[in-house]
Amino acid sequence: MSKKPLIVAIDGPSGAGKGTVARAVAARLRYRHIDTGAMYRAVAWKARQDRIDLADEAAIAAIGERATFDLAQGRVVIDGDDVSAAIRTPEIDAAATTVARHPAVRRALVAHQRVYGADGGIVMEGRDIGTVVFPDADVKIYLDASPEERARRRAADPAHTSSKGTQLSEVAIALADRDKSDSTRAASPLAVASDAIVIDTTGIPIESVIESVLTIVNAKCERAPAAASEGRREPPQSGGPSAQRGGES
Ligand code: DC
Repeated sequence: MSKKPLIVAIDGPSGAGKGTVARAVAARLRYRHIDTGAMYRAVAWKARQDRIDLADEAAIAAIGERATFDLAQGRVVIDGDDVSAAIRTPEIDAAATTVARHPAVRRALVAHQRVYGADGGIVMEGRDIGTVVFPDADVKIYLDASPEERARRRAADPAHTSSKGTQLSEVAIALADRDKSDSTRAASPLAVASDAIVIDTTGIPIESVIESVLTIVNAKCERAPAAASEGRREPPQSGGPSAQRGGES
């Protein structure tokens, strides 16, 4: 009898490799991939489009509650508007960080996220997936990297088109500001779940990180063979970056 497919939570700061890893792991498992950062970005985009003050928590939460999202195939569509490219700008970087501080906005988006993951078979990436959205997720990964490496990756990310030509130092400063806001906000700050496996991706080829995560998921599958292994095209290889449990140093 087939068991319920898994929920894989991947958290961490910007530039730690979450997007690439979550997408690849989802593709290998034939799971859905949900980038929750894109949801905060899309709500911020719509708030700006509707000329809503980013401090107006109730109005922005209402956008989040009513919104319909289409996050299939790497696209980000909110209420019928494809904002896949429009949300990857320095302006929306900052606006998304501002709206993500509002507890009512978070409640609205977390409600959508729980619906997406209700049947499992999902790789969800963000900042609070293992701590708040799915505290009982089957697999919790926390990806991290040095601030310098994260800034370098963000500056080189072709999705962030308008970061092109921007000084690395400017990208690093903006990233540090957003990290600070995400980690110190009162509502669901970025934090390592006590049962998360922490992977430091600094200097590690991303393919290696992907294999490590698949190895971790596979170990979980061995306890539930019909679940996550379903659809996997090849067995994950061992090796790659070292991983440790959250809470251990
Ligand atoms: O991952 P990202 O850079 O696209 O996220 C955009 C912003 O949203 C960033 O400030 C972190 C925030 N965020 C959050 O607070 N919770 C999430 N689950 C995902 C993103």
